[in-house]
Amino acid sequence: MSNKLKIGILISGQGSNLQALIDACEQPDFPAEIVLVISNVKNAKGIEIAINANIPCFIIDHKKYINRENFEAVMTERLSEAKVELVCLAGFMRLLSKKFIKLWFNRLINIHPSLLPAFKGLNVHVRAIDAGAKFSGCTVHFVRKHMDNGPIIAQSVVPVHDDDTSNELAERILKQEHRLYPSVVRWFAEDRVKIQGERVVVTGIDHPETTVTNPSPAL
Ligand code: GAR
Repeated sequence: MSNKLKIGILISGQGSNLQALIDACEQPDFPAEIVLVISNVKNAKGIEIAINANIPCFIIDHKKYINRENFEAVMTERLSEAKVELVCLAGFMRLLSKKFIKLWFNRLINIHPSLLPAFKGLNVHVRAIDAGAKFSGCTVHFVRKHMDNGPIIAQSVVPVHDDDTSNELAERILKQEHRLYPSVVRWFAEDRVKIQGERVVVTGIDHPETTVTNPSPAL
């Protein structure tokens, strides 16, 4: 039997982060395996990605349940049956209840396409551009009761260019998401992610001294 960390992935959409995690898990030395995927949207593109990778995939359509609690109870049943140890939200666009978050406390992580705590919620790229931000990026964090909030595990930064459209910025950030999420899952599986109050320390990491400036200072 495998001693890899068992992860469950929750999706609602195209599943490109799911694909990045599948690719990482296919590396023989990667310490985690995806044991199931749940989509709350019945036509989500990510479902096909899971099926193609031979990963058990459940469509649990929230619209079919009378309330959030019943919907989440079915998700928990599936996650528990599969003995999931870490739940990864990967473009899962449904708010989760306090009860669900408590049940999976510190075993539930999310990726968000901004540098939290800036730009929580939706339409993040348009808002980052409109606010004149010179950098944006993505964040992987533990999930807490407030949306897009919780101890930050890791972030990647990208520049915002003067002529960026929100699609161009989204694409630049998504590329970094695909690198960041597998790294965080690896660290978690290696038991290197230590929560200290609201802060997270990842052990065994070289601390970068690099600073980046946008626009670049004149030479
Ligand atoms: C990603 O950019 C992810 O960060 C974002 O949805 C996209 C899903 O893409 N998540 C959120 O905005 C959550 N607040 P994907 O389905 O291709 O992985």
